[in-house]
Amino acid sequence: MAVQGEVTGVVATGSGRAGGSAEPAGLLALAVRLAREAAGVASAMRSAAITDIATKTTRTDVVTAADVAVERYVGAALRRLRPGDSLLGEEAGERAGTRAGGAGTVRWILDPIDGTVNYLYGLPQWAVSLAVEVDGQVVAGVVRNGVTGQEWTALRGHGAYHRGRPVRGSGVTELGQALVATGFGYAPDRRAYQARVLAGLLPAVRDIRRLGSAALDLCLAAQGRVDAYFEKGLNLWDHAAGALVAAEAGLRVTGLAGAAPGPELVLAAPAGIHRQLHDLLVALEAAGGP
Ligand code: IPD
Ligand code: CA
Repeated sequence: MAVQGEVTGVVATGSGRAGGSAEPAGLLALAVRLAREAAGVASAMRSAAITDIATKTTRTDVVTAADVAVERYVGAALRRLRPGDSLLGEEAGERAGTRAGGAGTVRWILDPIDGTVNYLYGLPQWAVSLAVEVDGQVVAGVVRNGVTGQEWTALRGHGAYHRGRPVRGSGVTELGQALVATGFGYAPDRRAYQARVLAGLLPAVRDIRRLGSAALDLCLAAQGRVDAYFEKGLNLWDHAAGALVAAEAGLRVTGLAGAAPGPELVLAAPAGIHRQLHDLLVALEAAGGP
């Protein structure tokens, strides 16, 4: 699709400035530029950042100096380039823009480093995830792997792209042949529950992958590198960009029983196995527990 092929050109000329317009292609161009710069900030800081860590919800839920620095970097750029827009970020929460609302309201949704534990350990599975909502609907998103430079983009209604090439999800039709990615929360009681769900699922699928970044899991599903992905307990910043990439790559991205994806469950699967996986997750009460 031409519009996304052009994103690269827009960014290369440094003209990603989108003014106050809510036009999705321009927003995507700016998102790509910011995600690239943000990934550069995190990469450059890594050796210092991993000595400066704190914890959030539990002792295993870490935040490094780089998570905070990346969010500040993107926040400052947006305040400069698009002061009217709001920002929801993992570390600082919600920041309202100067615009009072009404049609064309833009909100950016940022996970500064998705896969922070991988970042901490030097594993090549962490990403900057940046999505853009217009009037409450995600219209554009980018996920950039901070180590490999792999980048996935999507524009609602215009497909999903990896490094400028269109991607499609898997065509698998049998759950027993499916490679399924998932993730776990940080709280021990939630993990114990998720482990029991996994014990029920594992005999029914080809295998399970736990790579450590929900945003990348969704993009890998979009590309057919895994067949499907599910997780309970995600926040919007974890899945906003990746879910659009997966949906635009042809996957069904849902919650349970026709609900939208959300904290209860995010399930991304090709049409050929979505129902089977969904029903098994319902039977295993995957959205239940703490
Ligand atoms: C986490 C990762 C992980 C998922 C967790 C998320 P973070 O995000 O996406 O894969 O299983 O649920 O919280 O903490 O690295 O930004
Ligand atoms: Ca995250």
